[in-house]
Amino acid sequence: MKIAIHKSGGFSERWINYCQKNSIDYKIVNAYDSDIIKQMADCDAFMWHHHQANYKDCLFAKQLLFSLQQSGKKVFPNYNSGWHFDDKVGQKYLLESINAPLVPSYVFYTSEEARKWIDKTTFPKVFKLRGGAGAANVMLVHTRREAKKLVCKAFRGGFPQYSGWRNLKERIRKYRLGKTDIKDVLKGVVRLLVKPEFAKMHAPEKGYVYFQDFIPNNTCDLRIVVVGNHAFGIKRLCRENDFRASGGGSLIYEKSQIDERCVKIAFDVSDTLHSQSMGYDFVFDHNGNPLIVEMSYGYAVEAYDKCEGYWDRELNWYSGENFDFCGWMVEDMLLNN
Ligand SMILES: Nc1ncnc2c1ncn2[C@@H]1O[C@H](COP(=O)(O)OP(=O)(O)O)[C@@H](O)[C@H]1O
Ligand SMILES: [Mg+2]
Repeated sequence: MKIAIHKSGGFSERWINYCQKNSIDYKIVNAYDSDIIKQMADCDAFMWHHHQANYKDCLFAKQLLFSLQQSGKKVFPNYNSGWHFDDKVGQKYLLESINAPLVPSYVFYTSEEARKWIDKTTFPKVFKLRGGAGAANVMLVHTRREAKKLVCKAFRGGFPQYSGWRNLKERIRKYRLGKTDIKDVLKGVVRLLVKPEFAKMHAPEKGYVYFQDFIPNNTCDLRIVVVGNHAFGIKRLCRENDFRASGGGSLIYEKSQIDERCVKIAFDVSDTLHSQSMGYDFVFDHNGNPLIVEMSYGYAVEAYDKCEGYWDRELNWYSGENFDFCGWMVEDMLLNN
């Protein structure tokens, strides 16, 4: 068994460490090379932590991974884990189709249909672009008028995936909380003028609108990750005077803070979908029932290093920080299934 790894930070550094430590045969490949398929000839598996904020990855990561999977090689992420990555609209259909507890979600592909719905639904609602992370493309819509303005934009010029102002505001917020330095804020100012490559290359999001029911009174969300037979989680506090937790940077790691019903749901959904790795975001409705808001095969690695431990499938608990969940991903490549 030889594993090809595209080195891109994120999971990949840890995959490489795991291979080195356990004498697993691997080679580094460059997924962007045109002859990548040929380079894979002497390998049995391919692992790539592709990222939603890299425009090149968005162009072909899924296509390359699925092509290699079709040729009989093991890949990470495989089709079941990856096809709906950074696609909340895809996730809506998927989670509805398996009766998973998704927050009630609505999508429209014409402004007429969207307006009809806006006229008869209640507000506030949560508006989201299908892609993006760290709550960058998620906002609360208080009124019909606001919602119609968004619909207008969605079916005219569309929405940029990246907003320099939003980005700067977030840096200033973190600076005020002592979570970043002044250099980071200045970088944000520069970013107003010099857009990141991703912002320049990504087409505007348009031609659809996506809303969810707003689930009020959540001061945090829960992120539960399932990798193979293991699950772990964190609680993420919402930003001050804001309903959004992800990307806020206030994390709680204690086991006692994680509702095990979410762990059970996460295992069940991952089983049904046969996914290798999946992070689920949960909020709680007025009856205290957990609801999924979105899911993702990829996530920031460092965020989980301080988890107090992890669960197995029977919800037995294993204490200890710094468990190697990226190593578990490599182990899965070595299995014959
Ligand atoms: N329907 C909702 N009701 C209440 N809060 C929500 C809802 N959807 C998202 N949130 C909050 O907003 C945050 C960002 O939303 P999410 O869909 O996870 O987008 P992202 O991909 O940017 O993380 C979540 O972490 C959660 O705190
Ligand atoms: Mg999220």
